[in-house]
Amino acid sequence: MKKKILKLIKFKNKKKLVCLTAYSKNIATILDNYCDIILVGDSVANVLYGMENTHKIKMETIINHAISVSKGVNKSLLVVDMPKGTYKNTSEAVKNARTIIKKTKCDAVKIESNNNNFRIIKRLVKLKIPVMGHVGYTPQFTKKFKVQGSNKTDSQKILSEAKKIQSAGAFSIVLECVKSETSKQITKILKIPTIGIGSSKECDGQILVTDDILGLSGFYPKFVKKYVNLKQIIKDAVTSYSKDVIKKKFPRRKNSF
Ligand code: KIV
Repeated sequence: MKKKILKLIKFKNKKKLVCLTAYSKNIATILDNYCDIILVGDSVANVLYGMENTHKIKMETIINHAISVSKGVNKSLLVVDMPKGTYKNTSEAVKNARTIIKKTKCDAVKIESNNNNFRIIKRLVKLKIPVMGHVGYTPQFTKKFKVQGSNKTDSQKILSEAKKIQSAGAFSIVLECVKSETSKQITKILKIPTIGIGSSKECDGQILVTDDILGLSGFYPKFVKKYVNLKQIIKDAVTSYSKDVIKKKFPRRKNSF
């Protein structure tokens, strides 16, 4: 296993893992100093392309964003989401994961669980392709949002799914919108780190969509904390620029040749 991944696994129970999404080099360059994992998520579909869900994002699009992000990443682990439909069976999954890794030089791919694709993870890992799992709310397979693990049956189902993903060889697993008690139980039982999004502080690490914490996306559900209102900051800057252009205050002589 890659040194970076082994190091990450060793952080379990020692240090909380800091993870964020990135879709471009400029953002990735800033995040790299602070993050353990940078994910080129298929959330790029909603966040940058204004699509209603992640279902139609193309592999080529994710690859292009990941190529940009990889130019800004030095120390973090770079993980790229496999888009919906690119891991329908083992041979497709192998072919597509290899293409993603070859073109983007990422460290690992992430696959959402449909409670049936453990063999795909096993095959990828056997071929030395590191895989991050994803359970709980899985937007590629579930249309309607629902908090996961709210009752005992549901909770046991997610735990068993997470265990199978670990057994298949995944090095880490995202828990999306899973109830605190269920997250706590999964995190305690698994040996690999759990990365939560909307899944409480009980997880080994946290991930959020960067545009959400920066106040750029306009998507602020309960589990998101908006750390800055970048939308307002950009509006203010653009207003000043616009005024300067109209009043002929920009460009000045120092901005001209
Ligand atoms: O696509 C994405 O951004 C994700 C995270 C929210 C975990 O899968």
